[in-house]
Formats: sequence, C-alpha cells, structure tokens
Amino acid sequence: MTKKILVTGVAGFIGSNIASRLVEMGYEVFGVDNLSNGFERNIETLRGNKNFTFLKADIRDAEILSGNFSKLDYILHLAAYKIPRYSDSLDTLMINTHGTENILELARKIEAKVVFSSTSDIYGKNPSLPFKEDSNIVLGQTNVRRWAYAVSKIFDEHLCFAYHERYNLPVSIVRYFGGYGPHQNLTWWGGPQSVFIDCALSNNEMPIHGDGLQTRTFTYVDDMVSGTIKIMESERSAGEVFNIGAKREIAIIDLARMIWKMIRPKEEPKIKKIPYKDISGKYEDVMRRVPDVSKAEEMLGFNAEIQLEEGLPKTIQWQRDILKRAK
Ligand SMILES: NC(=O)c1ccc[n+]([C@@H]2O[C@H](COP(=O)([O-])OP(=O)(O)OC[C@H]3O[C@@H](n4cnc5c(N)ncnc54)[C@H](O)[C@@H]3O)[C@@H](O)[C@H]2O)c1
Repeated sequence: MTKKILVTGVAGFIGSNIASRLVEMGYEVFGVDNLSNGFERNIETLRGNKNFTFLKADIRDAEILSGNFSKLDYILHLAAYKIPRYSDSLDTLMINTHGTENILELARKIEAKVVFSSTSDIYGKNPSLPFKEDSNIVLGQTNVRRWAYAVSKIFDEHLCFAYHERYNLPVSIVRYFGGYGPHQNLTWWGGPQSVFIDCALSNNEMPIHGDGLQTRTFTYVDDMVSGTIKIMESERSAGEVFNIGAKREIAIIDLARMIWKMIRPKEEPKIKKIPYKDISGKYEDVMRRVPDVSKAEEMLGFNAEIQLEEGLPKTIQWQRDILKRAK
C-alpha cells in the first residue's frame, strides 16, 4: 500500500522541496499551508500530480486538521514562524506552540509518526563547538526578541518528548542548520544568502550585520531533504534528535563576497555594515554555529554532499529566474 504523508508548511522552502522528492519516490503526499510565508509558485509543478493534494489551512485550526486527515503514516511538521525580525514575537510564539500541539494531537489520534523540524538556533550562544545533540542550550534574555524563536522550538521539542513518553507516539526531531537553495524566501526570512544574491543581482550594497565575522554552515536543500527522509524512514529514529547540516564553517562576510564574485566577477563587492544596535528588537547574534553531525552519519548514513561552489550557482540561477518572472 502506498504510504501517506502530510507535509505541513508545504508551500515554504523546505516543505515544497521535500514534497517534490516524496512524490518522486512514490509516496502519496498531502500538503497544508496557510500561505502566510509560502508561495503558490513553490508547489505549482506538484499541483497536477495525482499523488499530491493541497489544503490551504492554518495549523492552529485543530478541527480542519482532524476533519481532513484520518489516515496517515507520517507527518513532516515544518509549518512555523522563524526569528521575528520584522515584527513582535507573538506569531512565532503562538503558531509554533499551538500549531505543534495540534499536529501532535492529530498524530496521536491517527497513529502517525511525526518528524518535527527544529533549529540550530536552540543551541543559542553556547561557545562550545561543534554543537552535538546533547550540547547545552545557552540563550539570552527574554526582552531580546530573537530568542522567542528558539524558545518556541525548545517548548515544541519538550512537547514532542512528552507525547513520546506518555502516548508512545513515534516522534523524531530534526535540527536544521542554515538551508539554502531553490524556493528559499527572498528576504532575511530565507537567510543571509537570499538577501546577498538579491543585492548582487540588482547591483546594490549587501547588508552585513555587525562586522560579518560571525560564522555559519550552509546546507543545500537537497541534503536537508535527504536527511529528513532518512529520519522519517528509519526504524531507529523515534524519540531521537538529529542535527542535519553541512560542516563547512564560513564567515558571513566571506559568504557575501563569494556570492558577489559568482554574480559580478569583475567588480568589487558592495558591502554595507549595519551595527547590531540599529536592528530592532535588541537583536543579539550567534557568533559561531557549527554542527556535529556524527549521530546522523552513524545512525542514518547522512552526509551533506553539496558544496557551496555547486549549490550557490543553482540557487542564483533560480533566484534570477524568479526575479525575471516578477517583472
Ligand atoms: N530554512 C532553514 O534553514 C531552517 C533552519 C532551521 C529550522 N528550520 C525550520 O524548518 C521549517 C521550515 O522552514 P522553511 O525555511 O521552509 O520556512 P518557510 O517559512 O519557507 O516555510 C514555512 C511554511 O509554513 C507556513 N506556515 C506558517 N504558519 C502557518 C500556519 N499557522 N498554518 C499553516 N501554514 C503555516 C508558511 O506559509 C510557509 O510556507 C520551520 O519549522 C523552520 O523553523 C528551517
């Protein structure tokens, strides 16, 4: 029997890429999204496929969820709000907590395995690198808006474990590290790379927060998709947390220069530094972020294979096409 999978946040960056791969693999996929930060264009090629069904709905509406889904094998729960950069933190806190509670309730009733998408942001400011799944969580104060995202995901992770313990619900947690690729959001919501690509294509200054020496690792979306599906299909992943990310650490300013060089090889990069004090919400940055992915390597055979030199040109080409379409 064909297995049925619900992907929440299906019109978003990771959700749409996962749904496409799952349909290719022969699964029957149901997608939910309220299109608050997702785009019809991300699922347009999926729409005509007989193994894909889309429902425009809000994950905060428990009745819609239980009324539409009674038989599922897996739920990949990706719908969420991220770091609140442009507004207060209320949506991030409420959507991520109430929405996840609804998804876990649905999964409990219909006995579906859940893969919950968490984030590297929950390791916060922990100075001990690389981050292992059992590393400590070190966050800043509650009046710093950005930590609301990490806090909401930490609450969600606890909720996942509580459902696992009390109801024996199979739940796995994936902590993603900095994704990029086609279907990414073109604003800061999608990460620095989308903004840098946008600026370089339009010959504008690339905004760098602080001095740009803060580091990240960047994971091409195909690798994120592979890691997530391995977690979903694994017989041993229930009750486990996995870091999924690439290992190459790069300073944000070097990423900006690399992107500029790929788009405008003969020109000096245009860079504008923005002091942290000018970013709203008392913004605080994470100065270094690198995953230890040995658990995913050993238990799942996961390895991020796509290097920036390969993934960025594909992402740039996609972004170029999207901007052309928008004109
Ligand atoms: N992209 C990354 O690098 C990254 C890193 C760490 C964690 N994550 C996590 O992975 C998941 C997916 O991230 P993404 O980058 O694809 O984000 P995204 O914003 O592109 O996708 C999320 C989708 O959820 C939808 N959504 C939001 N609120 C909803 C609601 N109330 N009801 C229904 N749909 C709703 C949005 O419309 C959007 O399409 C999120 O949970 C995010 O926290 C992503």
